[in-house]
Amino acid sequence: MKKVLVATEKPFAPAAVAQIKEVLDKANYELVLLEKYTDTSEFLNAVADVDALIVRSDKVTQEVIDAAKNLKIVVRAGAGYDNLDLQACTAGNVVAMNTPGQNSNAVAELAMGMAVMIARGNYNGKAGSELRGKKIGIHAYGNVGRYVAKIAQGFGMEVLAFDPFVDEEAIKKDGVKPVASVEELYSSSQYLSLHIPANDKTKKSIGFDLLNKMPKGATLVNTARKEVINEEELLKVFAERDDFKYVSDIAPDCKDEIAEKFEGRFFFTPKKMGAQTAEANINAGVAAASQIVDFIENGNETFKVN
Ligand code: 3PG
Repeated sequence: MKKVLVATEKPFAPAAVAQIKEVLDKANYELVLLEKYTDTSEFLNAVADVDALIVRSDKVTQEVIDAAKNLKIVVRAGAGYDNLDLQACTAGNVVAMNTPGQNSNAVAELAMGMAVMIARGNYNGKAGSELRGKKIGIHAYGNVGRYVAKIAQGFGMEVLAFDPFVDEEAIKKDGVKPVASVEELYSSSQYLSLHIPANDKTKKSIGFDLLNKMPKGATLVNTARKEVINEEELLKVFAERDDFKYVSDIAPDCKDEIAEKFEGRFFFTPKKMGAQTAEANINAGVAAASQIVDFIENGNETFKVN
């Protein structure tokens, strides 16, 4: 009997675990559950004899791959796979996959929810501002970016997008204005919603030069990764522009300094919350389990990222 470990430091909703189990039961696979583990050693022990692994933002390192002697496939139930050591997976003959699109709506709803929250002064009782009529720039027009665009249009915002990998005509079809450069996106947008992945090219790529181009009343909304921000330069923007605000799904490393100096101009989730809905957990979890069964039974490698 094949064994599938679901290792989630931040657990899925119980309904998602139940549906993952259903998929695995049907295939006659065994579900092994490791939730809320506090030490990597628990993960290393649990992975030792499993054939497949489902994770969220849990780090799949060389050490994990070395400990997982029977592992054939790891699926990151989510979009960003910067938590997987792809080289280690490939060297260990482990197929790595993600589940693109499955939790995008949840992330987009949080992005817009945080935009409203900061526009209303974090609900401090004072007069805030509205989103209607403002411009929002979508930096990377992928699955989440598209949902953000749609919701923002519902708010009456003008939506712009920059994504060199997406055909301009496809962006226009959504009623979104494609812009030619990242600089143009930032200089045109009061709200900027980030959707770039974290990789060697993008880490620390959002800094003073771009953020300082934003018009008055600038708000950066980050539901991507904290690593894409150059935090030293972020602090400089905060210090030089008292109109600049930053909301982020997971706090930056410099959160204490921001909290101390720039009260009322930020909001950070205590834990990554973008995909933390029952719906997103079910979508991503069931997709991950189904991809595992389809790979092991039929060799289907769609969504392979290594
Ligand atoms: C993703 O990349 O899919 C999101 O950041 C979700 O991450 P999570 O599964 O840790 O909530």
